[in-house]
Amino acid sequence: MEVTSSPEQFRRATEAARARGETFGFVPTLGDLHDGHAFLIRTARGECGFVAISIFVNPLQFESQADLEAYPRRLETDRAVAAALHVDLVFAPGEPDMYPDGAPQVTVDPGSLGERLEGASRPGHFRGVLTVVAKLLALAGPCRAYFGEKDAQQLALVRRMVGDLELPADIVGCPTVRAPDGLAVSSRNARLSPKERAAACALFDALSIAAAMARRGEHRSDRLKAEIARRVAAEPLARLEYVAIVDDHTWEEPTDIDSRARALVAARFGNVRLIDNLLLPKPAEATVHNSDVA
Ligand code: PAF
Repeated sequence: MEVTSSPEQFRRATEAARARGETFGFVPTLGDLHDGHAFLIRTARGECGFVAISIFVNPLQFESQADLEAYPRRLETDRAVAAALHVDLVFAPGEPDMYPDGAPQVTVDPGSLGERLEGASRPGHFRGVLTVVAKLLALAGPCRAYFGEKDAQQLALVRRMVGDLELPADIVGCPTVRAPDGLAVSSRNARLSPKERAAACALFDALSIAAAMARRGEHRSDRLKAEIARRVAAEPLARLEYVAIVDDHTWEEPTDIDSRARALVAARFGNVRLIDNLLLPKPAEATVHNSDVA
């Protein structure tokens, strides 16, 4: 496994892989690799002849200097994880490698979707994400790039950027990896106290209740959102930030859901902010009454 901090070396290695006729699979990360990243890497490994990951704690996407400094940097452990997963190349640039002239003047405007939901809670976050992803994809060249559905809004914005700017990447969304109790795997989970960790499964419980309601015929978004909010609020350690139901393609918020509805939730457990989401099943024909709801 090759490891480089040089953007030029990363570019050359990916060009060489394509010249050998290999499909190039690329997994961009912030490091602190966990089972969610492992799933992305394994998927890329199964589909591509050459697999590279990037490890870069991108300062543009953090809201505060304190958050940026607190983000775990574990390059040695991450290298070992990558090697065990048969990654061919780790691109681990430092800030001066990625932003040699300091913070970029020209950045990617995520548009109106970038200001809603996660974008409203974390101003500037998606501009920072899309700017670094655009740079990474420019260095990577034609590739299949793997992103987790756990960050569904990020995935939607990356897809939109790649389409709008005609970037030469196929974006592959991979399912959320979950702990046995349903909690979505995230590097933030390590910061939960044992009580907060137990409480945090309320997010997946709440989304699963909404999925069960849809399966039984509930199609009204307000009813589904109210039930998600009720389940999260029943957990004393949770502080709900938002619940939304969006059309998975347009990200508009429908009054009545069909087969493309995604439920999203964000909440704080102590100082740790968690997000989760679930694609809801198409509502059955019969409409349920409140008394049918579990
Ligand atoms: O999801 C992440 O890990 C980051 O937002 C990404 C896509 C690597 C950009 O820094």
